[in-house]
Amino acid sequence: MKIFAVIGNPIEQSKSPVIHQAFAGQAGEVIEYTKKLVPVDGFNTAADDFFKNEGKGLNITAPFKYNAFQYADILTERAELAEAVNTLSRQGDGRILGDNTDSVGLLNDVQDRLSWPVKHKRLLFLGAGGAVRGVLFPFLSAKPEALVIANRTASKAEDLERKFSTYGPITGIGLDKLDSQKAFDIIINASSAGLNKADAQTLPKACYHENTCFYDMSYSNDLTPFLQWVVAATGCKKSNYSDGLGMLVGQAAESYFVWTGSKPSVEPVMSLLQSF
Ligand code: ATR
Repeated sequence: MKIFAVIGNPIEQSKSPVIHQAFAGQAGEVIEYTKKLVPVDGFNTAADDFFKNEGKGLNITAPFKYNAFQYADILTERAELAEAVNTLSRQGDGRILGDNTDSVGLLNDVQDRLSWPVKHKRLLFLGAGGAVRGVLFPFLSAKPEALVIANRTASKAEDLERKFSTYGPITGIGLDKLDSQKAFDIIINASSAGLNKADAQTLPKACYHENTCFYDMSYSNDLTPFLQWVVAATGCKKSNYSDGLGMLVGQAAESYFVWTGSKPSVEPVMSLLQSF
């Protein structure tokens, strides 16, 4: 039986075991997939133990994605650019491969499931933390007309602009400069503002038009605070907004593919999670 786990702190909230068991069910496989709560200074020991005990693949969630990036013996290009690893796999020769599947999870969700094309469109990302850095390379590779990162701390958005400018038309600005921007076609919230409802991210009217699509990388059984604001302020129709459940299941599907070579279907697993 193949052995998998997800490591994080906290970890109780993780839906990864349910998602991966559902993928295994689709493929007719029996797997072990557990959650591991690891102390903040204990990542390397936990990963060593896992792989010594015949572990095949590990998912990594906050706050360990940078630790996993440093831990890997080899990295995929997308993990190297993201400087973050959410998927570790033990290779046939014993080396540990670090990958980042968050980016494909988001891009597939936006372009394929939601049918919001990125090519030649104006994209806005809110936030400049690890979540945004992790997805910039594939989004720039999809050839948007412009990709703007707006962040409370402008310097972090400007740093990302410098780092990724060779891959496409990227600009980093402070949130306070948003009202000077032309309207965007797709707006993706990756800021942790709004995890408390009171400080949910809001946007000036100049930023959006009547067909703008809004995506929140976080997810919840009810509308997220950002999407509550979107619906109330823009009157946006249902097909033009989404939370990040599809990204969550999509990144897991890509990890499952990296580990096993089989590609699970995302939508039945999204329905399963929505039914809880
Ligand atoms: P992640 O790994 O999920 O990206 P992170 O690296 O901690 O998490 O990044 C959190 C992002 O949310 C940052 O862009 C942060 O802005 P700063 O760089 O200015 O800290 C943003 N953020 C957090 N709280 C915010 C708030 N109240 N208003 C605006 N932005 C906020």
